[in-house]
Amino acid sequence: MRKIAVCPGSFDPITYGHLDIIERASMLFDKVIVLVSFNSQKKPSFTIDERLDMIHAVVRCWDNVVADCWDGLLADYLKERQATAIVKGLRAVTDFEYEFSMALANKKLYPDAETVFLTTSQENMYMSSSLVKEIARLGGDISTFVPPQIHDMIKSRLRKI
Ligand code: PNS
Repeated sequence: MRKIAVCPGSFDPITYGHLDIIERASMLFDKVIVLVSFNSQKKPSFTIDERLDMIHAVVRCWDNVVADCWDGLLADYLKERQATAIVKGLRAVTDFEYEFSMALANKKLYPDAETVFLTTSQENMYMSSSLVKEIARLGGDISTFVPPQIHDMIKSRLRKI
């Protein structure tokens, strides 16, 4: 049976931190779906289509990775796609409580799937989409945080005039 994993997130925008987790997930599972999902606590800067375009541009190097979007419950998407794992990256301890409560809720909503946490690589420990956006807005260099394929798109959309 093919093992399908979902990497959900806001991806606003996708960063090297996300890509590290996605690449490692692609080595553990037969198929990985990078899922742009709805987070009620965030107000995204990029539209769903923009975020999907950026993801498509940077995941095409992996044969078993695809991108999709979903505005419902993650658990329902997993059921529909017969995915058995949610893969998330864990950075510092600050991520833990939030991620732990989501993992427990998803387990209740869909007991057939497991949440798998991958520890972030050391160099991505303090990287986040919010940080990348702030640096880009203030004219800083984001080239160590995001791949070249999406660098200019992020800069031109966020740069303060
Ligand atoms: O990158 P983020 O914003 O930290 O990711 C959070 C996300 C989008 C994965 C989470 O909010 C989510 O799963 N949203 C989908 C809706 C849902 O299922 N909510 C209940 C989660 S237990």
